[in-house]
Order: sequence, then structure tokens, then C-alpha cells
Amino acid sequence: MALSLNQKFVEKFVSKEEINNIAPEVYSAQKLLVTRDGEGNDFLGWIDLPTNYDKEEFKRIKVAAGKIQKKCDIFVVIGIGGSYLGARAAIEFIKSPVYNNLKKDTPDIYFAGNSISPSALADLVRICEGKDICVNVVSKSGTTTEPAVAFRVFRKLLIDKYGEEGAKERIFATTDKAKGTLKKFSDDNGYETFVVPDDVGGRFSVLSAVGLLPIAVAGIDIDMMMKGAQDARLNCAATDINTNDCLKYVALRNILLRKGKNVEILAAYEPAAQMLCEWWKQLFGESEGKDGKGIYPSSVIFSTDLHSLGQYIQDGTRLMFETVLNIKKANDELIIPFDPNNVDKLNFLSGKDLDFVNKKAMLGTLIAHTDGNVPNIVLDLEDRSEYSFGYMIYFFEYACAVSGYTLGVNPFNQPGVESYKKNMFALLGKEGYEDLKADLDKRIN
Ligand code: PA5
Repeated sequence: MALSLNQKFVEKFVSKEEINNIAPEVYSAQKLLVTRDGEGNDFLGWIDLPTNYDKEEFKRIKVAAGKIQKKCDIFVVIGIGGSYLGARAAIEFIKSPVYNNLKKDTPDIYFAGNSISPSALADLVRICEGKDICVNVVSKSGTTTEPAVAFRVFRKLLIDKYGEEGAKERIFATTDKAKGTLKKFSDDNGYETFVVPDDVGGRFSVLSAVGLLPIAVAGIDIDMMMKGAQDARLNCAATDINTNDCLKYVALRNILLRKGKNVEILAAYEPAAQMLCEWWKQLFGESEGKDGKGIYPSSVIFSTDLHSLGQYIQDGTRLMFETVLNIKKANDELIIPFDPNNVDKLNFLSGKDLDFVNKKAMLGTLIAHTDGNVPNIVLDLEDRSEYSFGYMIYFFEYACAVSGYTLGVNPFNQPGVESYKKNMFALLGKEGYEDLKADLDKRIN
């Protein structure tokens, strides 16, 4: 198994009896998912996605990735939320957070349309000057403001540089199968399109074309990633909490929530996991945070954040538990050199692999934080391979769905995301929002 749960540092806070007591609720939640009788059951396409995916499209993704690799120096992926976080998480986790700066035979990959900052977009346009570019616009609705604006900018840039015909060869759209403005626009303009399946929501879409195309462009083996997800799918479907770590994770986090632990911190001792944490925060935050319920998902990268948030976690308000992602095998070996002067008094570490030190930092922190009354769930992940990544993605998706049902919410909608959009459109003077604008203007002035 690529991922397994270690309970050692949570045992002090959660008894076996408590796990047994909550187990029937977790089983009921799992049953709701499996029988497809729960709320949001029109968004369950992700459950079988590792096996039940469009094989013809999968082949097209590989062909398109090969074309993009040959055609461009820079590949710009335009999307926000679930339409970019999974791809970025995969590329940084499996390759490197500094993937663009490494020597490689695949294009640099930049992500755009995930903010409304003029500087972020202008900087990227500057980076693209004099470079060959391809673009993948990813938007299920096709109308999300941030990616739509960025797509306008990059489409113009590509047409100015390569002409309408040339741009056609360089623009790839991942969007709804049939409906939606982006699908029609892409067909009208002759762009190759890929599908966000109808029954897969953005935050559950990394194993669809949404994630797979950019991930394949980075030279990552998407077959292995799917294989990991396939194996996770089999293991997560097991119905015994004592052998299914995914259900155990659901049980532990819900027990801890009921004990007042309202914040879950995903902690990794690996900077390459930073964007994975962002993906995880969206997955759990958007799925569980509703109806006045939910665990607030937060994240840290240790040991970096031990020098910033470490104090609070050790000693501040006791409102959190940690889920520690322990990547067992590091991608690199780095031996600490000997210093004849031993100025820093660290010669006792010379000759040791840096990962050995990292693991001791983790153990030391686990003990310290547990002593500080922060429960720690440990998830042991084999390595940073495509297989492990695919396994972990599916594990978290399944856990999130079962956990959401255990909590009593619909894990597959996101009604709260609309509130800011309505206000923003009204304030911008969009047609149809006149009454809301009048109301907001009164409140502002
Ligand atoms: O998970 C979600 O549904 C959201 O994060 C969406 O992916 C995000 O809002 C982008 O939407 P769209 O793909 O329609 O542009």
C-alpha cells in the first residue's frame, strides 16, 4: 500500500472505544456514497474515474502533450480552484517546486487566471516575451472571471504572434462536454478540446483531462498515476475500519472535531508538498465547510514553519490537530559535509544524509506537539512517485466524501462561493445586478 495511517501519536487523544463508537456512522456515510443515495449524488463520477475514464481521450491527452512539448518553451495553464490546483500540486510534488528552473526537455509550465492581480498576469506576459507558447484554458463553466480574463489576454497574445491559424494549433481547451460558452467558442475557433466530465466537480477533477494534460506535458507518467488511484480505489472501498485506513482517517478527524478540534493542519516535511496542501485545503474546505459545520483546513511545511507557526502549534489556543504526511523515501540523497573547523558544532552529523535529519526533526516534533496536546495523525506515504501521488489523491478524495457525509453535509456543492461573485459583479456594474449594486453602494457609502 502506498499510503498507510499510523495512529501512535493520536492514541493518547482517541481511544479504541471511541473509534468503535463512531464506526457505524462512518459505515453509513460510506454506504451513502456507494449506493449513491446521498446528497450531491450527481457528482460522483470521480469514484470510478481511475478505471472508468474515456480511453480515447486519454490517448489524445498523451498525443497533445507530446505536441505541446515539441511546440513550445512555455506552457500556460489557465484556470482557478479545482481547475488548476491538482495539476500544479502533481507537477510540484512529483517533479519539483522549482520544476521550471531545472534542466529538462519539457516546457516550463506557468499557471495563470488564478487571481485578479494585474501584476501576476503582466509578469507572466513579460516572461513569455520572445518564447514559444502554448495555452491550456481549463474552465468547466467557461465563465469564471479570473480564467476568462487571463484567456482573453493570452488568446490575443497568441493571435498577435502566430495569427488566427497558428493560434489554433497552440490553444487547448478543457471544458464541459457539450454545454457552456467555452466549448462553443473553442469549436467555433477550431481549438482542440478535452472534457471535464459532467459528474465530476472541479476539486475532484485532477484525474480527468483537467489535471492529466498539464501533468503529462511535464513529462509525468499518467498511466502510473492512474494505477496508483486504481489501487487506492480498491483499498478505500473496503468496509472494515480496522483494515481500511481511509475510513480510520475519517473516524479520527470526526472524533477530534467533536472534541473541539476545529482546525486540521496538514503538515509535510517537504516543500514540494506545498501545492498539494493547497489542493487538499480546497478539497476539504469547499466540501465540508457549510451549514455552519466543518473542520477548517490549514497547512504547514516543516521544518520551515516550525520557525514561524511552530510556537502557536506547540503552545497557543488548543484548537487544532495535525495530519502529518510522512514521505518515507526522499527523492534525493544529500550528504552533510565535514567541516574541519566545526564552527557550527554539527560535525556529529557529517556523513549523514539530510533526510535522516529531516526524519528526526519530524519525530521530535511529533513528540513535542503531542506533549503540547495536539493530536497527530500520521499518514506514511511511500515516496513522491506518480503511483504514490495517484494513490494519495484518491485516498483524500474518498476520505473527504465519506467525512462530509459523516458530518451531515453535501460534500459536492459549494453554494458559499457564489456570494462574493454576486457582489463583485454588482459592484462592477454587470447587467442584471442593478438592485444589488444600489443596495451595496448604500452599505459602502
Ligand atoms: O471545485 C470547484 O468546483 C471550483 O474550484 C471550480 O473548479 C472553480 O471555481 C473554477 O470553475 P470553472 O472550472 O467553472 O472555471
